[in-house]
Amino acid sequence: MQLGTALTKSAFKVMFLGGGELGKEVVIALQRLGVEVIVVDRYANAPAMQVAHRSHVIAMTDAAALRELIINEKPNLVVPEIEAIATEVLLEIEDSHLATVIPTARAVNLTMNRAGIRTLASEELQLPTSNYRFAKSLDELKVATTEIGFPCFIKPVMSSSGKGQSMISSASEVEAAWEYANQAGRVNKCEVIVEAKIDFDFEITLLTVRAKNAAGKVETHFCNPIGHRQVAGDYVESWQPQPMSENALAKAQQIAKTITDNLGGLGIFGVELFVSGDEVWFSEVSPRPHDTGMVTMITQYQNEFELHARAILGLPVNPKQKEIGASHVIYAGVDKDALSYANLEQALAVPDSDLRLFAKPEGFIKRRMGVALSFAESIEIARSRAKEVANAVKVIAE
Ligand SMILES: Nc1ncnc2c1ncn2[C@@H]1O[C@H](COP(=O)(O)OP(=O)(O)OP(=O)(O)O)[C@@H](O)[C@H]1O
Ligand SMILES: [Mg+2]
Repeated sequence: MQLGTALTKSAFKVMFLGGGELGKEVVIALQRLGVEVIVVDRYANAPAMQVAHRSHVIAMTDAAALRELIINEKPNLVVPEIEAIATEVLLEIEDSHLATVIPTARAVNLTMNRAGIRTLASEELQLPTSNYRFAKSLDELKVATTEIGFPCFIKPVMSSSGKGQSMISSASEVEAAWEYANQAGRVNKCEVIVEAKIDFDFEITLLTVRAKNAAGKVETHFCNPIGHRQVAGDYVESWQPQPMSENALAKAQQIAKTITDNLGGLGIFGVELFVSGDEVWFSEVSPRPHDTGMVTMITQYQNEFELHARAILGLPVNPKQKEIGASHVIYAGVDKDALSYANLEQALAVPDSDLRLFAKPEGFIKRRMGVALSFAESIEIARSRAKEVANAVKVIAE
């Protein structure tokens, strides 16, 4: 494996489709290796754009615009960081060997739609999942919920971060859940998945890395499990490691290996799993760094972004943990632009803590603007410190 010099004719070029806070950290990791980075998003000054060599603002659902941009920039790698992308272009780019899509165009395509990944996991790979049905109309949904029973989750097949998702406990709530999914789904004519509720003890993200060793052979590495707490389908805090039984961990790794072997390519995957005692269920997988994995910025020698950067370049990785730690999300709390962050001296006076502010130009009440990080001798102390840091940060409009 060889790398050239950014901004010269030997440059190794990586193009990100989507430039959020997770992409930003991968860009920084690539910059440290002299890689040339181009970030594309639908709005100017997205977080990752601010640390890239160049950026472009286009609608990534516009196949013609996306194709033209990739042909002009001629990146070595194309890294989809969001799910709303004209994926047919990725398949074309890969077929014509114009660039390598990370991890593969098929993986991006399958995981952007809950129907694709769930069918693969459950029906083809026989992995344990919640019982589920798909529905394309209110009538189909009524039948599906009766078959699955209550309580159940209803989610648009094309959505993330809990958008359009509800948990309902009776038939009387089905219509409202259908309306809600249709308003929030990424596409208008919404298809939804109905999932039986799993009564788990805890849920984890198992960061799984497919990376080449020095001999060029792809190996699978696992980070220690990350525990997290979700509110309305969005993560608010995470910690590493999540203690779990040896049996459950072995099952979790087996599930993660099976699904990532099938998806293929190089890079990190966030495998979401539910755990109850020794039982483990597959929930979903992202073929990229995971938001709950931000905790690794304080817990690992190589955080999830560095692992991803190294893996996609074909370099060896080390997923070892160095500290027990936690992360806690900082929301805007207001619908305003150009926010300021005050009281940072108090926030960072919390022992063994750190902070990332993402520099998103626009804030929304539930938009994630930063993350607090902390390490400690126990998970409890790390969690309480990260929370203390997050709460100390005062978001100020104007
Ligand atoms: N079948 C289920 N049983 C129990 N809890 C569930 C189920 N499905 C979803 N949840 C809860 O809702 C959360 C969000 O669900 P899911 O991961 O499917 O949605 P998402 O929109 O992709 O969220 P994100 O993008 O944040 O991962 C899960 O992490 C879990 O806490
Ligand atoms: Mg999820």
